[in-house]
Amino acid sequence: MAKVTIDNHIIEVPEGTTILQAARLIGGEIVPPTMCYYSKLKGSGGKCRTCLVKVAQSSAKDPRPMPKLVASCSTPVADGMVVQNITSPEVLEARKAVVEFLLINHPLDCPICDQAGECDLQNLSYEHGEEGTRYKEERREYPSVDIGPFIKLHMNRCILCYRCVYTVNQLTDKRVHGVLYRGDVAEISTFIQNSVENEFSGNIIDVCPVGALTDKTFRFKSRVWFLKPFSAHRDCPTCSGKVNLWKFGNEIYRVTGRKDQFGEVEEFICNTCRFDKKAESDWIIEGPASIDKESVISQNHYMKIKKGSIIKPLEQRTEAQE
Ligand code: SF4
Ligand code: SF4
Ligand code: FES
Repeated sequence: MAKVTIDNHIIEVPEGTTILQAARLIGGEIVPPTMCYYSKLKGSGGKCRTCLVKVAQSSAKDPRPMPKLVASCSTPVADGMVVQNITSPEVLEARKAVVEFLLINHPLDCPICDQAGECDLQNLSYEHGEEGTRYKEERREYPSVDIGPFIKLHMNRCILCYRCVYTVNQLTDKRVHGVLYRGDVAEISTFIQNSVENEFSGNIIDVCPVGALTDKTFRFKSRVWFLKPFSAHRDCPTCSGKVNLWKFGNEIYRVTGRKDQFGEVEEFICNTCRFDKKAESDWIIEGPASIDKESVISQNHYMKIKKGSIIKPLEQRTEAQE
């Protein structure tokens, strides 16, 4: 076992645990944000750098700090390690820079993006980014791509987290898409169209942290915060059949996997459950689903997301807060 201190919280975890996993076991606001790591996908992480932390003491045997900030999702703990996340101004400053990089080519078309309201990039920028932008150059642009009848790819919004690549790699028999090229021309390959034949391909919508992969059966139908999520299940021969139904009145607008407090699906679901079962009679409804991750859906506003700042309801705001 290794005893590790993260932002003054001490926890004992098995050797081989990453700093991020240890922080998640402690929970709360000391957990670093993640845009590419996904606990259900083997090998994920190490791409986005949002989970950077400072290792102020490498281990009990070697009390020296690590020379650079490290990605907490891919750095294992050591006995006696001391880690700083929100207690390190250096980390908070670096995270601002990471957000700025992630947004360099991002269209920020949130008003017309189906991910708005449940978008990890929106939340990350709101909590860790700057209000303004220094970027004046032209953003790269790609045409949107239809990936079969159910999924739309907006490469403009992709942050190249590789989660969809890992999902198809690990859930289907053959992976036929990936990231082509490198640097600022890197893109999710158009061969992604071929991956839709698989019954589990719809899961790439759930794992995508942004609005790059969206559900065509739900596109532009409603903003997510107008919908009410319900836990439901059905006897499915292909997957667990445990889902969240997103309803407006009695109508089921979309079906997704259930997500945990870190916004990661608990179990991957099949395309039949996701796209074909939109009648109430298809499901046994268990009751309202709780959305644990901080979001406009769980709170219906952004009031508590920004630590230490209180945003008053619109009617009570002063001019300075508008
Ligand atoms: S992916 Fe997120 S940040 Fe980007 S346009 Fe959509 S909602 Fe906005
Ligand atoms: S399409 Fe989404 S899941 Fe795939 S690499 Fe881009 S951002 Fe990540
Ligand atoms: S979550 Fe660690 S690098 Fe992306």
